[in-house]
Amino acid sequence: MRAVYETPRPENCAPPRILIAFYTYSGSTGKLAEVLQRLTGGTLTRLYPSQPYPSRFPELLEQVRREIHSHHYPRLLPVSESPAGYDIIFVGTPNWCGTVAPPLAAWLRRNRTALTGKVLLPFYSHCGGEPGDIAGAVRSLCPQAQVGPAFAACPDEGDLAAKLGVWLTGCGVLPTFAV
Ligand SMILES: Cc1cc2nc3c(=O)[nH]c(=O)nc-3n(C[C@H](O)[C@H](O)[C@H](O)COP(=O)(O)O)c2cc1C
Repeated sequence: MRAVYETPRPENCAPPRILIAFYTYSGSTGKLAEVLQRLTGGTLTRLYPSQPYPSRFPELLEQVRREIHSHHYPRLLPVSESPAGYDIIFVGTPNWCGTVAPPLAAWLRRNRTALTGKVLLPFYSHCGGEPGDIAGAVRSLCPQAQVGPAFAACPDEGDLAAKLGVWLTGCGVLPTFAV
């Protein structure tokens, strides 16, 4: 098996240090992050915008569209984890208007120097609408990182652990998969 992500790690080296950085608005991406944590033993870090998003959908959608179109990167509450100490970083987001939600985009952009050469594995939750290109968006925010294929799931999708396991195995993060 190869991948993770293309640059092979030397044999007998320490296991990769794994960070799972994610933004979730209504909890579905958070559930994916928790299953990933269970499967990989990675460290979870949840991102929060300093200014919470509106709770009503029309205002939320209007604000999100405005931020995406104007490339606005919202301020975030401080987080204790920096990507510098990690080898593989899972980055999670809801699919918002076919792309990465602005809080994750902000974190990626602000950390893009520290993310140089790191393996970034995107995962996202969606409702079956516009698929967009989440991995492509992560790649453009962090052009010096090694971005792998994205994992996508709907909130009500069953057997998340098995599906995530197949993806992790394909990415070379888990040598064999057992839930
Ligand atoms: C502002 C907004 C835009 C969205 N755009 C899309 C979209 O383009 N495609 C899609 O499949 N789902 C879209 N969704 C649905 C979310 O991706 C979906 O509900 C997701 O599971 C939410 O994840 P969360 O619970 O982690 O916030 C959108 C939701 C919101 C609130």
